[in-house]
Amino acid sequence: MAPSRGVYQAIHDEYRDMATWYDSFWASYTDPVLRRPAEEVVRIIRRRPPPREPPAAAVTVLDVGAGTGALLRRLRDETSDLGGLVALVGAEPSGEMLEQARRKHTVPLILTCSSSNSPDQPPEDLPFADESTDIVVSTSAFHFFVDKVDALREMRRVLKREGGSLVITDWCNDYLLVKLYHLLERIRWNFALGYSEAYPGPVTSEEMAKLVRDAGFDNVRIATYRVRVFGFFFWGTHTVTATKP
Ligand SMILES: C[S@@+](CC[C@H](N)C(=O)[O-])C[C@H]1O[C@@H](n2cnc3c(N)ncnc32)[C@H](O)[C@@H]1O
Repeated sequence: MAPSRGVYQAIHDEYRDMATWYDSFWASYTDPVLRRPAEEVVRIIRRRPPPREPPAAAVTVLDVGAGTGALLRRLRDETSDLGGLVALVGAEPSGEMLEQARRKHTVPLILTCSSSNSPDQPPEDLPFADESTDIVVSTSAFHFFVDKVDALREMRRVLKREGGSLVITDWCNDYLLVKLYHLLERIRWNFALGYSEAYPGPVTSEEMAKLVRDAGFDNVRIATYRVRVFGFFFWGTHTVTATKP
């Protein structure tokens, strides 16, 4: 099925309007949710064998749906002792979110798609060469992907062979609170915002693991857990890790 432009447009409009206050409003959600994927990525980076000859090729980390760059900032701080050996890159379809990220740090940030510059290109398409990246990470964005297997195959394409690693953290539809929130979001998007289609939505842990396997990844592991956000909500989350064969 061809991806619906209506959904992309809706998401784009949502983040255009939210960009300037995203960090201040969502910090109580983002900070606790990013802890685990950041730990996973840092663990993968530190586990890699040290380069034999300087100047060594950096470990490249691509954050898909990077938003305002909160995860990239965290990764930068948590790997600062490695000097220039970690190259952080963010890909994001909203120019307004990227603008906020640019104000906060200087890693390369790439606009993957915007309603104005590439109306037919799905934002899941990544403007990177095959096998160019060591780690692909994505946080709190997967529920927006329209064709999830295609998006995962695209992530797999840009990962290096034999050990390129995937880390995705997103809402987990195993949890009642997530289901209820998504139901409210569907109603808001369909009726209040006037879009005929709701956004695609979160998946269960079982579905997530299957999607990642179907996209051709190995060593698929999924952790399902609640994160305390905004001080008192326990938000259902999962983090999937996998490697490219
Ligand atoms: C909830 S924000 C999360 C931002 C950031 N990853 C974080 O954890 O703070 C979701 C982000 O995903 C982006 N996004 C939405 N649909 C996307 C898609 N199909 N492909 C890539 N990114 C997408 C949005 O523009 C938005 O910046």
